[in-house]
Amino acid sequence: MTTTMTALFGGTGPHWAPRQVAVPEPGPGQIVVRTHAVALNNTDAVMLAAADPSTGGSGKEYRAGYEFAGQVSAVGDGVGTATVGRHVMGTAPAAFAQYVLADHRHVLPIPDGLGYSEASALPTGLLTEHGALTTGGFRPGQSVLITGATSSIGLIGLQIARALNAGRIIATTRSAAKHDLLKQAGADTVVITGEQDLTRSVLDATAGEGVCLALDHVGGQTFAACLPATKVDGAVVNIGRLGQAASTIDLDALSYRHLRLHGVSFGFTRAAELGAVIAAAGRDLLPAVADGRVRPLVDRTLSFDTAAEAATRLRSHQAQGKIVFAVP
Ligand SMILES: NC(=O)c1ccc[n+]([C@@H]2O[C@H](COP(=O)([O-])OP(=O)(O)OC[C@H]3O[C@@H](n4cnc5c(N)ncnc54)[C@H](OP(=O)(O)O)[C@@H]3O)[C@@H](O)[C@H]2O)c1
Repeated sequence: MTTTMTALFGGTGPHWAPRQVAVPEPGPGQIVVRTHAVALNNTDAVMLAAADPSTGGSGKEYRAGYEFAGQVSAVGDGVGTATVGRHVMGTAPAAFAQYVLADHRHVLPIPDGLGYSEASALPTGLLTEHGALTTGGFRPGQSVLITGATSSIGLIGLQIARALNAGRIIATTRSAAKHDLLKQAGADTVVITGEQDLTRSVLDATAGEGVCLALDHVGGQTFAACLPATKVDGAVVNIGRLGQAASTIDLDALSYRHLRLHGVSFGFTRAAELGAVIAAAGRDLLPAVADGRVRPLVDRTLSFDTAAEAATRLRSHQAQGKIVFAVP
């Protein structure tokens, strides 16, 4: 049995650096997964920058990564031994490694026919977008606005809304060149922010009423523009702050429309609650993943040896979909 493995560390410079570390052992309720692919998230770029000593970051080294797919190689007490050998995708810290230690509640089975590369690119999108829809009180038939919809998780959110029988789906991007990408992912209406006024465009597309539910990945004044674009008794859920964390909102729009505002951050959710969010996403969405209605877009598959290229691509925001590492 192998006792050491390669893992990627941040805090060493502008890119991740490989180190040899011990293969983890599972404690109670935990599993160890031999990873075959791990996927990158916007958060990985934010953490890399915050720790990069060459640009004034903390210089504190940390094990990078959150999202993986592979095969269960060991289980701890309280996890059935039949679990060993299962093909799973999931979320756990320190995922950029050949073996990852995970809470057994934080993985989903990989449906037949889905490769490791695509599977690794799904868990964050599935749990975040399904969790946000649930938080916003989504029901089939409701209209949904998704801002920052070309983000990796936004594209999953679009497909999920379609698979769960949303009514009209309106999606935003800053780039006219990505119009067709959003249409293909399930958008009925695409708003090119910068060229079109977001609130006006949404009202025009919804007979002046606004959408039932807005999922916002951008924050800043895009979040503010979602409020008057949401119908009476509707909900706005902030998921990401790709633009800015600070926002000046119109309280008249909030109060006169009786809106509900929510924020979700599943990286800061207690383990048992996250387990319930993942279980609900699996229950509602695995059939749609299995039959191809929900599929991640993989921008490119790289390796730990080309981690610098991956970090540069992630920071560029030019990627269409997920960047994935195939794990040796
Ligand atoms: N709440 C949670 O639990 C949770 C979980 C995961 C991720 N997140 C957050 O969700 C967001 C999306 O994550 P991701 O990993 O999917 O991102 P990503 O794939 O890196 O998103 C890239 C896209 O974001 C858009 N974008 C970049 N900068 C922008 C800006 N200043 N204003 C508007 N749009 C901008 C660009 O789209 P266009 O060029 O097409 O406009 C770009 O293609 C991030 O803020 C992330 O931190 C939250």
